[in-house]
Amino acid sequence: MKAIVVEHRGDPGALKEVPTPSPGPHEILVRVTAAGVNPIDWKSRDRGDRTLPFILGQDFAGVVSATGSRASKYREGERLFGIARAHGTYAEYTIVGEDDNATPIAKLPDGIGDADAAALPTAGLTALAALGALEVGSGTTLLILGVTGGVGGFAAQIARDRGARVIGTGRSSNEALARSFGADTFIGYDRENVVEAVKAASPGGTDAVLDLVDGDDAIGAMADVIKNGGRIVSTIGAADIDAFARRGITAQNIVVGQTPSWSHAGLRTLLELVEQGRLRVTIAAERDLSDAVGALEESKRGRVNGKLVITVD
Ligand SMILES: NC(=O)c1ccc[n+]([C@@H]2O[C@H](COP(=O)([O-])OP(=O)(O)OC[C@H]3O[C@@H](n4cnc5c(N)ncnc54)[C@H](OP(=O)(O)O)[C@@H]3O)[C@@H](O)[C@H]2O)c1
Repeated sequence: MKAIVVEHRGDPGALKEVPTPSPGPHEILVRVTAAGVNPIDWKSRDRGDRTLPFILGQDFAGVVSATGSRASKYREGERLFGIARAHGTYAEYTIVGEDDNATPIAKLPDGIGDADAAALPTAGLTALAALGALEVGSGTTLLILGVTGGVGGFAAQIARDRGARVIGTGRSSNEALARSFGADTFIGYDRENVVEAVKAASPGGTDAVLDLVDGDDAIGAMADVIKNGGRIVSTIGAADIDAFARRGITAQNIVVGQTPSWSHAGLRTLLELVEQGRLRVTIAAERDLSDAVGALEESKRGRVNGKLVITVD
């Protein structure tokens, strides 16, 4: 099969012909139709801590091609989507456990397309995990730093669906996109001072902040815009928990794979939201498998709005 393989440290990955894997007794062989691109794909490649060689990618949509001798939950020809970390998804085939909560999967209804499904798992589950940790509900004022990206777009929509008021930051030229995700108030970080703009938009302070912005050290200043007793979650490990605690704020650095949202049920929640028209997937662009390394470079530049998806023929 064709796959984007990283063979040595510093290798950005390249399209190679490799043997198609065989499923173990409780595993499923999936013919991949689309793979979602996430920053973790290039981050884990660049960190260089994975056993070599490996295939890039973790989010997928596809069709069951074969099942292991003891796998009974899925049938050949069924569509499914989810996470396949160990085997990678920038490939014509991948392997998933039929019931392994570390790599959640779910059946895919006919009404949801391959690209939309492949865009959902990591970013969607992260949005659910973050909103859970932030206790976002009706009446919550939530600030999302990075509302125009993959996680931010899903988080804004789900927060609005739960009755929250959303303030979101992004590049000023992306205001329309941010508003389409449900941002009630939009702050262009390249045009306004974010802290001052949040104070003006929410003079009493916000209840919750979701920090999604890599390499931005502005998170410390968020203590000035969060109410006493409020919460902040960072997905990039940037929150100084003790410093926030001294200001009466509960801070968490979440790792989505260690949260309850990272589950088969979490994926089914996302499907339900999409099927009920409460969550929309915005595809920034679709790239061929042969362009996957270029797609990772696009993601690394930090300017992907919505989700980038690799399509596999
Ligand atoms: N801890 C975990 O388990 C976990 C899980 C998922 C994701 N993450 C991390 O969370 C981060 C977000 O993930 P993602 O999938 O949403 O990434 P993404 O889709 O690549 O995010 C790109 C977005 O970042 C925005 N952005 C860049 N600089 C900004 C700034 N200074 N202020 C506001 N927005 C800015 C861009 O908006 P503009 O184009 O409008 O500037 C763009 O829309 C990544 O670092 C990712 O690795 C962690």
